[in-house]
Amino acid sequence: MTSRQLTVAVVGATGAVGRTMSEVLGERGVPMRELRLLASERSAGRVVEVDGRSHTVGAATAAAFEGVDLALFSAGSTVSRQLAPEAAARGCTVIDNSSAWRMDPTVPLIVSQVNPDDGEWHEGIVANPNCSTMQLAPVLMALRDTVGIERVVVDTYQSVSGTGGRAIAELEEQVRAHAAGQPIVASVYPHPIAFNAIPEIDVFTEDGYTREEVKIIEETRKILHRPELRVSCTAVRIPVFVAHSEAVHVETIEPITPDRAREAFASVPGVIVRDDPASHVYPLATEAAGRDEVFVGRVRQDPSIPDGRGLAFWVVSDNLRKGAATNAVEIAELLIGRGWIEARSRRSPVGASGALA
Ligand SMILES: NC(=O)c1ccc[n+]([C@@H]2O[C@H](COP(=O)([O-])OP(=O)(O)OC[C@H]3O[C@@H](n4cnc5c(N)ncnc54)[C@H](OP(=O)(O)O)[C@@H]3O)[C@@H](O)[C@H]2O)c1
Repeated sequence: MTSRQLTVAVVGATGAVGRTMSEVLGERGVPMRELRLLASERSAGRVVEVDGRSHTVGAATAAAFEGVDLALFSAGSTVSRQLAPEAAARGCTVIDNSSAWRMDPTVPLIVSQVNPDDGEWHEGIVANPNCSTMQLAPVLMALRDTVGIERVVVDTYQSVSGTGGRAIAELEEQVRAHAAGQPIVASVYPHPIAFNAIPEIDVFTEDGYTREEVKIIEETRKILHRPELRVSCTAVRIPVFVAHSEAVHVETIEPITPDRAREAFASVPGVIVRDDPASHVYPLATEAAGRDEVFVGRVRQDPSIPDGRGLAFWVVSDNLRKGAATNAVEIAELLIGRGWIEARSRRSPVGASGALA
């Protein structure tokens, strides 16, 4: 890793993901001379504690990126569309957590243990995938590289923290209201989220899928470098605070047994197999919350696909950490470590081989 101390900005620093990003930057020892916390005008002047140190939040404006080497954006697509190019034009490299740039063919979309080499060709913006795509890609990579994959069906069970701070508060308020015998009021979601399962995440598209489902389908293909991969998805919001779960069915090209699949999953860095159903051991949201790994279990043959080419399994991960902040920081470490912190066109040949070190 570089010995150069970087000026790092977090945009959306007061949000659920932004706060986790600041924490993870500190935990992992990213070399920082300055941590600049940015949010909307509403939060400017607010004092936030990170790692026991007080930081005053600034307003996210184009000028705020002067002198910034690296910016982690997590303030929604509108802000990213507006400010990421402004930051990049000032020589800053942006790691963007919104959906604004993910499907732009000139922007790499990276899961750290799946396609790190794509970071080489960035031109100032690198996209961080959707949280549900993030936990799916490492396990699909294991199957792609072992027996090949033909078709994927994934159904998600997504926590409210994936929507942000207001949704976390809404679930809590609805549970309290129910316990107190008071009416449940829904404002963030179209229906009460407490004691419910809502099959609507993001807006509906013309073909009946939601934007969240389309993101998972398209991003999975881009990250795995399999533009023709057949993928279908149903995305569901459930009353869990942190960590998304997914039921995944995969049709493989060659046959594969559950044992071989478990071995392949366990060989991926950051993937942990928890699979002993007889002892009630399988991945759980409550155990994944606060962790950086992707957990996989309930691995079994899918008998609806012939010749042993079908697998079913359950994947769980913390959407705020691996699903957002941790992967963003891992991308930062990757760019720093490989001398790719600057856009490819700004890199000197010496810089490309590690002049930052
Ligand atoms: N939560 C997840 O699991 C997850 C995973 C992957 C991606 N994402 C994406 O990450 C982004 C943020 O998610 P979140 O869960 O952290 O949301 P959140 O808790 O609602 O926080 C939103 C953040 O954005 C800031 N913001 C809003 N409008 C702004 C503006 N005009 N200029 C500058 N900052 C502005 C807010 O600042 P104020 O406090 O000043 O309003 C706050 O810091 C979204 O794009 C989301 O899709 C989230």
